[in-house]
Amino acid sequence: MNIIKAKDYDDLSRKAANIIAAQVTLKPDCVLGLATGSSPLGTYKQLIDGYNNGDLDFSRVKSVNLDEYKGLTKDNDQSYFYFMYNNFFKHINIDVNNTNVPDGTELDSDKECARYNAVIESMGGVDLQLLGIGRNGHIGFNEPDEEFVKLTHCVDLQPSTIEANKRFFASADDVPKQAYTMGIQTIMNAKNILLIASGEDKAEAIRNAFFGPITPHCPASILQLHKSVYVVADEAALSLCNL
Ligand code: F6R
Repeated sequence: MNIIKAKDYDDLSRKAANIIAAQVTLKPDCVLGLATGSSPLGTYKQLIDGYNNGDLDFSRVKSVNLDEYKGLTKDNDQSYFYFMYNNFFKHINIDVNNTNVPDGTELDSDKECARYNAVIESMGGVDLQLLGIGRNGHIGFNEPDEEFVKLTHCVDLQPSTIEANKRFFASADDVPKQAYTMGIQTIMNAKNILLIASGEDKAEAIRNAFFGPITPHCPASILQLHKSVYVVADEAALSLCNL
């Protein structure tokens, strides 16, 4: 595990983007695992700048996103597809047909999860998976649990996650109650993992994930067992770690 300390969110975003840029440069037809949320916005902005100034070419890149709310259509402005399209895909030269997000409109969970697992497998796996981390240590929508759930599955969102995400909706009642997410094994199968965290409210999750016991009660703690993990976190997010 490599912990890369950033000064603040901007510094973190530049460092994380540099790692993704290196992946795209070294393997132009790579498969990127992508995340939504506040954490990667700055990273995506940096990558868009890299594309605009001619340093980066995404024309052969394929992508697979971690998760999607169940029940939301692609054009719903709170869907994760909408987020990815508007914050990243439409600003670069990736072929949208090569981007994948679980289909929130498929209400048959078994069918959609099997389809998504097959998509990831058919791509030959993920070269670099970008992750944020929840305050409760979740990755993707893998919430604290009694066991690690392996493959893409449908989850009931925890009250704390609904609370954290309600800022994007009119009210907590409007936040979908279920989501599709890659499972822990799906995430662990990625060849390289880049987890980013910013701010004091992530400090406890970072300490528990990387310096605590490996337990499904803190899903991100499983990453301690991955052979190629880069954690790029700012000083505030690392404030509870003795580094
Ligand atoms: C997003 C995702 C989530 C977020 C996490 C942190 O696709 O899978 O696990 O990474 O909830 O969210 P932010 O970055 O908004 O703090």
